[in-house]
Amino acid sequence: MKNYPEIKSVLYSEEQIQKRVGKVATEIRTAYQDEGKFSTASPNSESLLVVGVLKGALYFFADLTRELKLPLSMDFMQVASYGDETVSGGDVRIVTDLHTDVKDRDVLIVEDIVDTGRTLEFLVNTMTERGARSVKTCTMLDKPSRRVIDIKADFVGFTVDNVYVVGYGMDIAQKYRELPFIGYF
Ligand code: PRP
Repeated sequence: MKNYPEIKSVLYSEEQIQKRVGKVATEIRTAYQDEGKFSTASPNSESLLVVGVLKGALYFFADLTRELKLPLSMDFMQVASYGDETVSGGDVRIVTDLHTDVKDRDVLIVEDIVDTGRTLEFLVNTMTERGARSVKTCTMLDKPSRRVIDIKADFVGFTVDNVYVVGYGMDIAQKYRELPFIGYF
């Protein structure tokens, strides 16, 4: 691609991403409202705690939270994976923890991609162990062909094949996160 010679092609354009984010936001809002949560009729009720998983989710988190149109608060976590990426049982550890007590909170975890599923499983377990009232998950991209843990995000932007994706927060060796589109190698 012009300007980005390493990138083969655009998988999802900026326009496609923004359109899909709007739709995912609507799905999420509807799901909570169907449960009777975060009604505008009771503005003093507790807000949704949206947890962004750094660094990859930063743009999805920023776009999604602006489209959710629910009373919400934000916090962030950074985690890292260790061990063999292709087998189950590898370790995930917290690099930077939340500043918020999740006990009795409705938590929405926002990821850029679910690959082996190890990170998402760890995050869901962590929120549950800490006493969250509910935990829902969303991811911009889902790569089911790479899964080693049987887990699926509640809300998915796009399902992708096993190609290496970059942009819209996702990197290769910390490069290309800032691209407004999702490209592949
Ligand atoms: C990526 C991504 C997810 C995780 C998914 O994070 O953001 O958190 O990997 O992989 P899994 O399903 O196999 O656990 P990464 O560790 O690359 O960090 P980054 O978000 O800072 O790029």
